[in-house]
Amino acid sequence: MRIYREKDYEAMSRRAAQIIAAEIVHNPACLLGLATGSTPEGAYRYLVDWYKQGLLSFKNVRSVNLDEYVGLAPDHDQSYRYFMQSNLFGHVDINPANTRVPDGLTLDAKAFCDEYDAFIRAQGYVDLQLLGIGRNGHIGFNEPGGFFVKETHVVDLTESTIDANARFFASRDDVPKQAISMGMGAIMGAKKVLLCASGEEKADAICGSVLGSISPSCPASILQLHPDVIVVVDEAAFSKLAAAGFQA
Ligand code: GLP
Repeated sequence: MRIYREKDYEAMSRRAAQIIAAEIVHNPACLLGLATGSTPEGAYRYLVDWYKQGLLSFKNVRSVNLDEYVGLAPDHDQSYRYFMQSNLFGHVDINPANTRVPDGLTLDAKAFCDEYDAFIRAQGYVDLQLLGIGRNGHIGFNEPGGFFVKETHVVDLTESTIDANARFFASRDDVPKQAISMGMGAIMGAKKVLLCASGEEKADAICGSVLGSISPSCPASILQLHPDVIVVVDEAAFSKLAAAGFQA
Protein backbone atom coordinates (compact mmCIF):
# COMPACT_ATOMS: atom_id res chain seq x y z
CA MET A 1 0.00 0.00 0.00
CA ARG A 2 1.38 3.39 -0.98
CA ILE A 3 -0.03 6.34 0.95
CA TYR A 4 -0.04 9.92 -0.28
CA ARG A 5 -0.69 12.38 2.54
CA GLU A 6 -1.92 15.63 1.01
CA LYS A 7 -2.57 19.01 2.58
CA ASP A 8 -6.28 19.31 1.87
CA TYR A 9 -9.17 18.24 -0.34
CA GLU A 10 -7.83 20.16 -3.32
CA ALA A 11 -4.39 18.56 -3.14
CA MET A 12 -5.95 15.12 -2.63
CA SER A 13 -8.13 15.69 -5.69
CA ARG A 14 -5.20 16.79 -7.84
CA ARG A 15 -3.08 13.82 -6.81
CA ALA A 16 -5.93 11.38 -7.49
CA ALA A 17 -6.56 12.99 -10.89
CA GLN A 18 -2.86 12.70 -11.75
CA ILE A 19 -2.95 8.98 -11.02
CA ILE A 20 -6.07 8.48 -13.14
CA ALA A 21 -4.63 10.61 -15.96
CA ALA A 22 -1.39 8.63 -15.88
CA GLU A 23 -3.41 5.43 -16.32
CA ILE A 24 -5.25 6.90 -19.32
CA VAL A 25 -2.03 8.16 -20.94
CA HIS A 26 -0.33 4.84 -20.37
CA ASN A 27 -3.32 2.80 -21.53
CA PRO A 28 -5.74 4.90 -23.63
CA ALA A 29 -8.31 2.09 -23.87
CA CYS A 30 -8.17 1.31 -20.15
CA LEU A 31 -11.19 0.09 -18.21
CA LEU A 32 -11.67 2.49 -15.31
CA GLY A 33 -13.71 1.53 -12.25
CA LEU A 34 -15.38 4.77 -11.20
CA ALA A 35 -16.89 6.03 -7.97
CA THR A 36 -19.36 8.70 -6.96
CA GLY A 37 -19.81 10.83 -3.86
CA SER A 38 -18.25 14.11 -2.73
CA THR A 39 -14.77 12.60 -2.57
CA PRO A 40 -14.05 12.12 -6.29
CA GLU A 41 -15.80 15.31 -7.46
CA GLY A 42 -12.60 17.35 -7.27
CA ALA A 43 -10.57 14.73 -9.15
CA TYR A 44 -13.19 14.65 -11.90
CA ARG A 45 -12.99 18.45 -12.09
CA TYR A 46 -9.23 18.24 -12.72
CA LEU A 47 -9.71 15.54 -15.37
CA VAL A 48 -12.32 17.66 -17.16
CA ASP A 49 -9.96 20.68 -17.04
CA TRP A 50 -7.09 18.67 -18.47
CA TYR A 51 -9.37 17.31 -21.21
CA LYS A 52 -10.45 20.87 -22.07
CA GLN A 53 -6.81 21.93 -22.25
CA GLY A 54 -6.17 19.12 -24.72
CA LEU A 55 -3.91 17.25 -22.30
CA LEU A 56 -6.06 14.16 -22.02
CA SER A 57 -8.51 12.21 -24.15
CA PHE A 58 -11.17 9.73 -23.02
CA LYS A 59 -11.94 8.70 -26.59
CA ASN A 60 -11.10 5.05 -26.07
CA VAL A 61 -11.55 4.86 -22.29
CA ARG A 62 -14.16 2.44 -20.97
CA SER A 63 -15.72 2.59 -17.54
CA VAL A 64 -17.76 0.63 -15.04
CA ASN A 65 -19.22 2.30 -11.99
CA LEU A 66 -19.25 0.80 -8.56
CA ASP A 67 -22.84 1.25 -7.59
CA GLU A 68 -26.28 2.74 -8.07
CA TYR A 69 -29.34 3.30 -5.91
CA VAL A 70 -32.21 0.85 -6.43
CA GLY A 71 -35.30 2.63 -7.71
CA LEU A 72 -33.65 5.76 -9.12
CA ALA A 73 -33.93 6.40 -12.86
CA PRO A 74 -30.78 7.49 -14.74
CA ASP A 75 -32.17 11.03 -15.04
CA HIS A 76 -32.97 11.35 -11.31
CA ASP A 77 -30.65 14.07 -10.04
CA GLN A 78 -29.41 11.86 -7.18
CA SER A 79 -28.80 8.77 -9.30
CA TYR A 80 -25.17 7.85 -9.76
CA ARG A 81 -25.63 7.77 -13.57
CA TYR A 82 -26.73 11.41 -13.35
CA PHE A 83 -23.74 12.18 -11.11
CA MET A 84 -21.34 10.67 -13.64
CA GLN A 85 -22.95 12.57 -16.52
CA SER A 86 -22.77 15.89 -14.70
CA ASN A 87 -19.33 15.47 -13.15
CA LEU A 88 -17.42 13.68 -15.89
CA PHE A 89 -19.04 11.95 -18.85
CA GLY A 90 -20.96 14.99 -20.06
CA HIS A 91 -17.79 17.11 -20.25
CA VAL A 92 -15.26 14.82 -21.92
CA ASP A 93 -15.01 12.83 -25.15
CA ILE A 94 -15.84 9.45 -23.65
CA ASN A 95 -18.14 7.32 -25.81
CA PRO A 96 -21.38 6.96 -23.78
CA ALA A 97 -21.70 3.39 -25.08
CA ASN A 98 -18.45 2.60 -23.29
CA THR A 99 -19.74 3.68 -19.87
CA ARG A 100 -21.59 1.37 -17.51
CA VAL A 101 -23.41 2.22 -14.31
CA PRO A 102 -25.58 -0.41 -12.60
CA ASP A 103 -29.23 -0.13 -13.62
CA GLY A 104 -31.20 0.96 -10.55
CA LEU A 105 -34.47 0.17 -12.33
CA THR A 106 -33.66 -3.38 -13.37
CA LEU A 107 -36.56 -5.78 -12.94
CA ASP A 108 -34.25 -8.77 -12.66
CA ALA A 109 -31.50 -7.77 -10.27
CA LYS A 110 -29.90 -11.19 -10.07
CA ALA A 111 -29.54 -11.48 -13.85
CA PHE A 112 -28.32 -7.89 -14.06
CA CYS A 113 -25.67 -8.42 -11.36
CA ASP A 114 -24.46 -11.65 -12.96
CA GLU A 115 -24.14 -9.91 -16.32
CA TYR A 116 -22.25 -6.99 -14.73
CA ASP A 117 -19.71 -9.35 -13.19
CA ALA A 118 -19.45 -11.40 -16.39
CA PHE A 119 -18.68 -8.22 -18.32
CA ILE A 120 -15.94 -7.17 -15.87
CA ARG A 121 -14.42 -10.65 -15.91
CA ALA A 122 -14.53 -10.78 -19.71
CA GLN A 123 -12.52 -7.54 -19.85
CA GLY A 124 -9.84 -9.09 -17.64
CA TYR A 125 -11.05 -6.91 -14.75
CA VAL A 126 -10.68 -3.20 -14.21
CA ASP A 127 -7.32 -1.51 -14.83
CA LEU A 128 -7.72 1.18 -12.18
CA GLN A 129 -10.46 1.13 -9.56
CA LEU A 130 -11.23 4.46 -7.90
CA LEU A 131 -12.82 4.21 -4.45
CA GLY A 132 -14.14 6.57 -1.83
CA ILE A 133 -14.89 5.24 1.62
CA GLY A 134 -17.89 5.45 3.92
CA ARG A 135 -17.56 6.58 7.53
CA ASN A 136 -18.19 2.95 8.48
CA GLY A 137 -15.48 1.69 6.13
CA HIS A 138 -17.78 0.73 3.26
CA ILE A 139 -16.46 0.70 -0.29
CA GLY A 140 -18.92 0.90 -3.14
CA PHE A 141 -21.95 -0.04 -1.09
CA ASN A 142 -20.29 -3.04 0.54
CA GLU A 143 -21.54 -2.36 4.02
CA PRO A 144 -20.01 -3.80 7.22
CA GLY A 145 -21.33 -7.26 7.96
CA GLY A 146 -20.42 -10.81 8.86
CA PHE A 147 -18.74 -11.65 5.56
CA PHE A 148 -17.35 -10.13 2.37
CA VAL A 149 -19.70 -10.43 -0.60
CA LYS A 150 -17.87 -11.42 -3.76
CA GLU A 151 -20.43 -10.76 -6.48
CA THR A 152 -22.26 -7.64 -7.63
CA HIS A 153 -25.37 -7.66 -5.48
CA VAL A 154 -28.31 -5.77 -4.03
CA VAL A 155 -27.48 -4.25 -0.64
CA ASP A 156 -29.67 -3.03 2.19
CA LEU A 157 -28.09 0.27 3.17
CA THR A 158 -27.16 0.75 6.81
CA GLU A 159 -28.66 3.54 8.91
CA SER A 160 -25.20 5.16 9.02
CA THR A 161 -25.00 5.28 5.22
CA ILE A 162 -28.59 6.54 4.88
CA ASP A 163 -27.76 9.29 7.41
CA ALA A 164 -24.55 10.21 5.60
CA ASN A 165 -26.26 10.39 2.20
CA ALA A 166 -29.41 12.19 3.41
CA ARG A 167 -27.66 15.51 2.76
CA PHE A 168 -28.17 15.02 -0.96
CA PHE A 169 -31.92 14.39 -0.74
CA ALA A 170 -34.87 16.61 0.19
CA SER A 171 -35.46 14.48 3.29
CA ARG A 172 -34.02 11.38 4.93
CA ASP A 173 -37.13 9.46 3.85
CA ASP A 174 -36.25 10.10 0.23
CA VAL A 175 -32.91 8.25 0.51
CA PRO A 176 -33.27 4.85 -1.22
CA LYS A 177 -32.94 1.95 1.20
CA GLN A 178 -31.16 -0.34 -1.24
CA ALA A 179 -28.43 -0.14 -3.84
CA ILE A 180 -26.73 -2.36 -6.38
CA SER A 181 -23.02 -2.59 -5.66
CA MET A 182 -20.04 -4.24 -7.22
CA GLY A 183 -18.80 -6.90 -4.83
CA MET A 184 -15.34 -7.50 -3.47
CA GLY A 185 -14.51 -9.91 -6.29
CA ALA A 186 -14.57 -7.18 -8.92
CA ILE A 187 -12.88 -4.64 -6.64
CA MET A 188 -10.09 -6.99 -5.60
CA GLY A 189 -9.71 -8.18 -9.20
CA ALA A 190 -8.74 -4.66 -10.29
CA LYS A 191 -5.12 -4.37 -11.37
CA LYS A 192 -4.69 -1.21 -9.34
CA VAL A 193 -6.86 0.41 -6.65
CA LEU A 194 -6.94 4.11 -5.80
CA LEU A 195 -8.66 4.81 -2.48
CA CYS A 196 -9.33 8.46 -1.66
CA ALA A 197 -10.58 10.10 1.51
CA SER A 198 -10.92 13.61 2.82
CA GLY A 199 -12.05 15.00 6.14
CA GLU A 200 -11.98 14.12 9.79
CA GLU A 201 -15.12 11.97 9.56
CA LYS A 202 -13.16 9.49 7.41
CA ALA A 203 -10.14 9.28 9.74
CA ASP A 204 -11.38 6.25 11.72
CA ALA A 205 -12.35 4.37 8.56
CA ILE A 206 -8.95 5.06 6.98
CA CYS A 207 -7.07 4.06 10.11
CA GLY A 208 -9.11 0.86 10.44
CA SER A 209 -8.63 0.02 6.78
CA VAL A 210 -4.88 0.52 6.79
CA LEU A 211 -3.91 -0.67 10.27
CA GLY A 212 -6.90 -2.63 11.57
CA SER A 213 -7.46 -6.33 11.25
CA ILE A 214 -8.86 -7.54 7.95
CA SER A 215 -12.51 -8.01 8.67
CA PRO A 216 -15.89 -7.53 6.98
CA SER A 217 -16.77 -5.25 9.88
CA CYS A 218 -14.51 -2.71 8.11
CA PRO A 219 -14.99 -3.67 4.44
CA ALA A 220 -12.11 -1.54 3.10
CA SER A 221 -9.67 -3.50 5.28
CA ILE A 222 -9.74 -6.22 2.58
CA LEU A 223 -7.58 -3.88 0.49
CA GLN A 224 -4.61 -4.84 2.69
CA LEU A 225 -4.61 -8.08 0.68
CA HIS A 226 -4.45 -6.31 -2.69
CA PRO A 227 -0.97 -6.09 -4.25
CA ASP A 228 -1.30 -2.59 -5.72
CA VAL A 229 -3.24 -0.05 -3.66
CA ILE A 230 -2.65 3.68 -3.59
CA VAL A 231 -4.31 5.60 -0.77
CA VAL A 232 -4.65 9.36 -1.22
CA VAL A 233 -5.83 11.22 1.87
CA ASP A 234 -5.80 14.74 3.17
CA GLU A 235 -4.40 15.67 6.58
CA ALA A 236 -7.78 15.38 8.31
CA ALA A 237 -8.44 11.88 6.95
CA PHE A 238 -4.86 10.92 7.86
CA SER A 239 -5.17 12.23 11.43
CA LYS A 240 -5.95 8.92 13.17
CA LEU A 241 -3.11 7.18 11.33
CA ALA A 242 -0.83 10.02 12.44
CA ALA A 243 -2.02 9.62 16.04
CA ALA A 244 -1.21 5.90 15.79
CA GLY A 245 2.35 6.84 14.79
CA PHE A 246 1.97 5.84 11.14
CA GLN A 247 4.49 7.56 8.84
CA ALA A 248 3.69 8.55 5.24
C1 GLP B 1 -21.42 6.45 -0.84
C2 GLP B 1 -20.95 5.64 -2.08
C3 GLP B 1 -19.50 5.29 -1.97
C4 GLP B 1 -18.75 6.49 -1.49
C5 GLP B 1 -19.10 6.75 -0.05
C6 GLP B 1 -18.51 8.04 0.49
O1 GLP B 1 -22.43 5.87 -0.13
N1 GLP B 1 -21.69 4.47 -2.34
O2 GLP B 1 -19.04 4.82 -3.24
O3 GLP B 1 -17.36 6.24 -1.54
O4 GLP B 1 -20.48 6.70 0.17
O5 GLP B 1 -19.15 9.15 -0.04
P1 GLP B 1 -18.54 10.60 0.04
O6 GLP B 1 -17.38 10.61 -0.89
O7 GLP B 1 -19.66 11.50 -0.42
O8 GLP B 1 -18.16 10.84 1.44
